[in-house]
Amino acid sequence: MQPCTAKRLSIWSNFSILYATCLLGCDSPSDNQPISAESGFVDSLLAEMTLEEKIGQLNLVGRDGNLDSATKIGPEKADAIRTGHIGSLIGVVGAGLNRELQRIAVEESRLGIPLLFARDVIHGFKTLTPIPLAEAASWDLEAIEKSARIAAIEASASGINWTYAPMVDISRDPRWGRVMEGAGEDPYYGSLVAAARVRGFQGDDLSQHNTILACAKHFAAYGSPLAGREYSVTEVSMRELEEIHLPPFKAALDAGVGTYMTSFTEVNAVPATISKFLLTNILRRRWGFDGFVVTDWSTITQLIDHGVVPDSASGAAASLQAGVDMDMGSEAFTNYLAGLAKKGLVSEQDIEKATRRILQAKYRLGLFEDPYRYTNSKRQRTEVLTAENRMAARDLARKSMVLLKNENKLLPLSKSIKRVALIGPMSDAPKAMMGRWKGEGKPGDVVTLLQGLKNKLPQATIYSTTGADFEGTDRSGFQEAIALARRSEVIILAVGESQRHSGEASSRAFIDIPGVQMELIKELHKLEKPIVVVLFNGRPLTINWLDENMPSILEAWLPGTEGGNAIADVLFGDYNPSGKLPMTFPISEGQIPIFYNYKNTGRPDKGDGSRWVSRYYDIPNEPLYPFGFGLSYTEFEYSDLVLQSATVDKDESVYFSLNVTNSGSIRGEEVIQVYTRDLLASVTRPVKELKAFNKVMLEPGESKVIDFEIPVKELQLLNEEHQWVIEPGEFQLMIGSSSADIRLTDKFLVAK
Ligand code: BGC
Repeated sequence: MQPCTAKRLSIWSNFSILYATCLLGCDSPSDNQPISAESGFVDSLLAEMTLEEKIGQLNLVGRDGNLDSATKIGPEKADAIRTGHIGSLIGVVGAGLNRELQRIAVEESRLGIPLLFARDVIHGFKTLTPIPLAEAASWDLEAIEKSARIAAIEASASGINWTYAPMVDISRDPRWGRVMEGAGEDPYYGSLVAAARVRGFQGDDLSQHNTILACAKHFAAYGSPLAGREYSVTEVSMRELEEIHLPPFKAALDAGVGTYMTSFTEVNAVPATISKFLLTNILRRRWGFDGFVVTDWSTITQLIDHGVVPDSASGAAASLQAGVDMDMGSEAFTNYLAGLAKKGLVSEQDIEKATRRILQAKYRLGLFEDPYRYTNSKRQRTEVLTAENRMAARDLARKSMVLLKNENKLLPLSKSIKRVALIGPMSDAPKAMMGRWKGEGKPGDVVTLLQGLKNKLPQATIYSTTGADFEGTDRSGFQEAIALARRSEVIILAVGESQRHSGEASSRAFIDIPGVQMELIKELHKLEKPIVVVLFNGRPLTINWLDENMPSILEAWLPGTEGGNAIADVLFGDYNPSGKLPMTFPISEGQIPIFYNYKNTGRPDKGDGSRWVSRYYDIPNEPLYPFGFGLSYTEFEYSDLVLQSATVDKDESVYFSLNVTNSGSIRGEEVIQVYTRDLLASVTRPVKELKAFNKVMLEPGESKVIDFEIPVKELQLLNEEHQWVIEPGEFQLMIGSSSADIRLTDKFLVAK
């Protein structure tokens, strides 16, 4: 690795002497181990830095309104980069722009330390894939990894070298708007998705020009806000934290994630940004994380409202001491750390530790070798929103769609259809199709459903109108919608939530279809025409009436740039739906929190009409659509479950195989889901836990034998002493097409 500016040359030559000396057998500065090139480089850079320059590296700021035409940041911030008071920026995007900002940092600051450019690249950069919850519904880890890879390629071509993704928060509360950003309710599946996304963003080698630093967020338990209300407190037990919320964060670490973000919430009454328990005990000591931790937006300042510090200076001290390395948005580190250090209220070693971690990340990104490697205008022109990327987005969008109902096989529709009525606020709504966290996506690049239908059926007449808006009480469009519907052979309803209804600060108390859309649907229902509901949403919704009255319902989520084409592919049979729900759809908000891996209780409802059991007086316990549910245009049969051995040792795996057959007449994919239940344990265990799955493609009439392995260590539990242990005993094995549609069962024994 060769540094490229004169300033860094001097650092590099100091370092080279030190490194060579060590290789010649002298003691390294701290011990007798040879130092790595990275730590040698970072040490020698740190040795040249003033305290203020170190603190500058811990400071991340956003762009501001006072725009300078060349840099799009105000002159004060440009000066702060020059004087080494800013180490990273968020929200400035563009190869040319970021090159200029990087030039200021590298050419005009004393030590020439390059900047990190952060951005929320969550489900695509300019080519938008479906929202993350939808991606998770594909159960296709390769496609999910590829989506993150494409996002990284596009973002890195446009000046970005750090994404605030993946969000790995598990959530069992669909009222919370940010469920759209995660992988759903299951810690096992959520962990696999987290790892896939990290691999996609970071690739094998972070220093490549098209890989970017990932950030696992929001550490931790943010997915469980009390009453589903955004930013409210989290009241999870230490057990729930360990069993449900931490696993995907650990999986992200095992996949090599470079950074973590704290969360807005609190754990055990301590705001996450000053939680030593989370940031030091778990993340660094227990897990050995050596990357850096950034706060969520202005969470240091928010400590004052939490009532745990009197002012931002105390907040800066507490968060640094807890294990935060970078302050996003509070400017508390830059304003107070130097003064605090001078008074002895924070240690310079703690500041240096944080600086070191950030410099390491910059080193790993290859920024000291070539600070301009992520600002390549040619790549920005040629590698963004390419036909290939659009095709991948279309592929993932259709894989993410879940067929919720299909009475009498109304779907797929015939392509020879002549007159279609497309009605609903999402009919031709490019902005809403993109979903929240749209990155650099532009409505003009989006294929709406109307466009998708026109592309699919060039000969047909598509009558289209919104009929109603996503919100409000305006019914003036009903008549036109009804008139158009009357003229058509089939009605396609494009209804649900807009992009505003989910995402950050979009908790909803009622998770139904908003506005007067349901009234419009009921009017159209009276026409007694075939109706296909295409549902758009960022969270599970309560759609009991639709389920009872509509023949076909396709869950399309918020499907991104190629959404319209992808939906048309599914509606007209060019793609057989294969998605499965990563989150339970309740029948009522009263069932929330709701999830498939609940406990049996001492008084389970055995369905025998008993009064004194754990159930509601007014509604069933069961959801409308369970976790893992999703139909296909074909049918699958499961048979011949064969366990290799009915008894396994603790250090072994359970091996088994089964046969799956496509017994219908259309090619299709099935997600075979494997659940286990620990039948007798020292602590209560869920009635089902997902432990493996496989998505298989089968031609009509084709059968395949599918092999599975569950390492026994995956069956460990947290005992009363809070230790992870494998308890010997009997386990039930359940294999099914959803968590509620178990087709094959057996038992095995974990030996003593
Ligand atoms: C969100 C984070 C996001 C950050 C920066 C915050 O409001 O909680 O997820 O990364 O803003 O945009």
